[in-house]
Amino acid sequence: MAKTINIRSMKKVSDSPETLEKDLSTFPGAFESLEKSKSVIGKSRHMVADYQALALYILACQYDHRDCNILEIGTYRGFSASMIIQGAPKAFFIGLEPAPHEQDRACRNLREITEPERFRVFSVLSWKYLSSYGGPELDFIFVDGAHNQIALDLYWWNWLKPGGLILFHDYTPVDGFKPCEPVYNTVNRFLEWLDRPADVLIVDDRKYGMLGIYKKPGDSEFEERFLDEI
Ligand SMILES: C[S@@+](CC[C@H](N)C(=O)[O-])C[C@H]1O[C@@H](n2cnc3c(N)ncnc32)[C@H](O)[C@@H]1O
Repeated sequence: MAKTINIRSMKKVSDSPETLEKDLSTFPGAFESLEKSKSVIGKSRHMVADYQALALYILACQYDHRDCNILEIGTYRGFSASMIIQGAPKAFFIGLEPAPHEQDRACRNLREITEPERFRVFSVLSWKYLSSYGGPELDFIFVDGAHNQIALDLYWWNWLKPGGLILFHDYTPVDGFKPCEPVYNTVNRFLEWLDRPADVLIVDDRKYGMLGIYKKPGDSEFEERFLDEI
């Protein structure tokens, strides 16, 4: 029997990638969307794992409304973007991908997934885009860009709506698969600063992970110096 998936606060820790994929594939529409993304875009080692792609689809579903706005930092060829877009086809999606040839490829790929007016992919660094960003406030932010400078992307927290979700890829300690210490350590300090546990955790038995936090009404604005004070 299919297990019920809690769309808002998924916590799946220590299962194998295969078990996670099987489990998350039971969510309506997720498996079909993954198949479509793989056939349109293909797969490379730079892209999120298949079970992570399924989780992105499921988490995006809660923001499938015309007035929702989604941001992805690090779009590459549009694989993770395609899963988010299929999960929330009514939302407006912005992807950031500084490499012009990948940005161009992402746009071509995503045109096969959704209507051209539902998304934009800009060839720009996230912090450059942030410096001139004037809104709208965001409902869902997926962070998978410059892992060594993750602290700069934490400023996007200040554009997240209460109830919105920020989700970090590569939340993986030094002894995990594809370790990413800067993301792991900085996100842990960010949680400490917020003084609460993660809301979403998708971590496989190799410690390869994604971590998500929902913004609450009254949450403080982020400044990098706060991380030094912890
Ligand atoms: C791991 S790949 C993203 C894979 C993609 N999320 C997927 O699963 O299909 C990381 C991408 O982030 C881009 N990148 C690096 N620094 C960035 C920044 N500051 N802002 C936005 N994108 C960035 C890189 O050019 C690269 O294509």
